[in-house]
Formats: sequence, C-alpha cells, structure tokens
Amino acid sequence: MFSKIGRNDPCWCKSGKKYKNCHMAFDEKIHSYEREGHIVPSREIIKTPEQIEGIRESGKINIAVLDYVAEHIKEGMSTEEINTLVYDKTKELGGIPAPLNYEGFPKSVCTSINEQVCHGIPADDIILQDGDIINVDVSTIYNGYFSDSSRMFLIGDVSEEAKKLVQVTKECVELGLEQVKPWGFMGDMAQAVHDHATENGYTVVRDIGGHGVGLEFHEEPFVSYVTKKGTEMLLVPGMVFTIEPMVNMGTDEFYTDGGDNWSVYTEDGLPSAQWEIQVLVTEDGYEVLAY
Ligand code: MF3
Ligand code: CO
Repeated sequence: MFSKIGRNDPCWCKSGKKYKNCHMAFDEKIHSYEREGHIVPSREIIKTPEQIEGIRESGKINIAVLDYVAEHIKEGMSTEEINTLVYDKTKELGGIPAPLNYEGFPKSVCTSINEQVCHGIPADDIILQDGDIINVDVSTIYNGYFSDSSRMFLIGDVSEEAKKLVQVTKECVELGLEQVKPWGFMGDMAQAVHDHATENGYTVVRDIGGHGVGLEFHEEPFVSYVTKKGTEMLLVPGMVFTIEPMVNMGTDEFYTDGGDNWSVYTEDGLPSAQWEIQVLVTEDGYEVLAY
C-alpha cells in the first residue's frame, strides 16, 4: 500500500524533512496495525498540513453559508429560495457549490423535508410548511478543497415527536464525534451513533453513509454507523471524513424516487433526520472543520 521511501528521502508529507525524521515511524505504526488484520488508511487519504489548511478554509465558507441559511429560512419559503441563498453566499465568499452538476445533480444544495431521507432537490413548488423539519446539506469547493456539512431546521410549530428526533440525531453525531481520536477505529464512532439512536427507539440507515472528503467530494472510506467498536478503519492524524447518520423514526428501509433519481424517502413515510459534521483527526483527538 505504501510505496517504499528511503530513510533519507524527503518525506511524502512535503515537510522538507527526511523521511526518517518525519513520517517513517508513523507509517510503521500504521503498518503494524495492518499486520494485525486491521483496515488501515492509504496514504492518499492522509492529508498534509498544507491540504488541511485548504480544507479548513473551505469549511469556514461552508459554515458561513449554513449560518446564512439559518438567518433566513422560514415558513412559506420555497426550497428553490434556499438554493438561491446557498448559491449566492457561496459565490460571494469565493467558493463553488459542490453539488451543482455533481453526477448530474441539478442544484447547489440538498434540501430534504420530513420523510425525505437525503438528496432532496430544491424546487419552486416545494414550500416550507408549519411543522416541517428540513435538512439543508451544504458542500463547498474553495481553491480545490472540499467541505461538507448539514443541519436540521425546525419550521414553525413542530411536533414534540419530530423535535425529539432532530435533537437525538444531533446528540448522535456529537457522541460519535467524541469517539474520534488517533489510533482508534471508525467503528468506535459508529457504535456511539447507533447505540444512542436505538436507545431512543430509532433506526439508522445502513446503506447510505459518510465519506472521506477534502481533495474530492467523496473519498475513501465509506463511513457506516452500523459497525462495532474496535472495527473498521484505523483513525490516524490527517484523516478527514464526515459523520452524517440518517436517523429514522420508523423503519430504516428507504427508496429512491424514480422520477428525479435523487430524492431518498423512508419506506414507511415516517420522518428522518440528519446532521453532518466534517471532522479532522488530530494528534490528540479531533477538530471540527464544518458543522
Ligand atoms: N452533501 C451530500 C453528502 O453528504 C452530497 C450529496 S451528492 C449531491 O455526501 F449531488 F446530491 F449533492
Ligand atoms: Co457528506
């Protein structure tokens, strides 16, 4: 997996230091986990300090765009208007909305209401109604670096049941986040997310998950929330990925709209919530890059 670098060659992280004085021990440590049978990250998904700085700047725009949506979102507004807010603010800050034309996605943001699980397409005739819960999923490209995070918004007077779903889902991502640390495992985060959701009587969507992100919109690894502590990919400093579970009030079964080929809905029509954090694994824990 790792191409052989000589001890005295320049380190792959572009620090300018010799490999033996930089990432050689780090690579050997990863390799020892691999020998024990663990899944380990390839060097391509471990970001250099320069790349991290770029992703951090992109994340700042993503946060600012979501803050802007938070200020303006209200009952009676169309999801197309949310799309315009996202497009305009992203451009004003020097970014590009990553969803626009991504694999044919026609808009700048995903807006998913109530029983919509994810990937809802903004439209003029989708109007925010009193009692709706909506996920606004924003992703930005800035200087070639990608960021991705999403939040839920409550429109008007939301039922206690739906409010609880939104709140518990937020707690899920935050409990998952607390598990992110170097030389831990992706499954540590996953289990924390899953346990909290199921303890509250909810289900977590299995086949749509999070992802590595930074140099591309979607990178390795696939981030599941149904795996166990101590399993899945080893976490090492410099990895960047999303924690974005879709938590359902009823069944975890879902289907994709045959008309637009994007919008995902719960099979039973019960609501689904999602929050998304973009996180960096650091030397001593984590740093939130977008939320
Ligand atoms: N922001 C979504 C994610 O979290 C991206 C969906 S792809 C799109 O991965 F084309 F629908 F934007
Ligand atoms: Co994402």
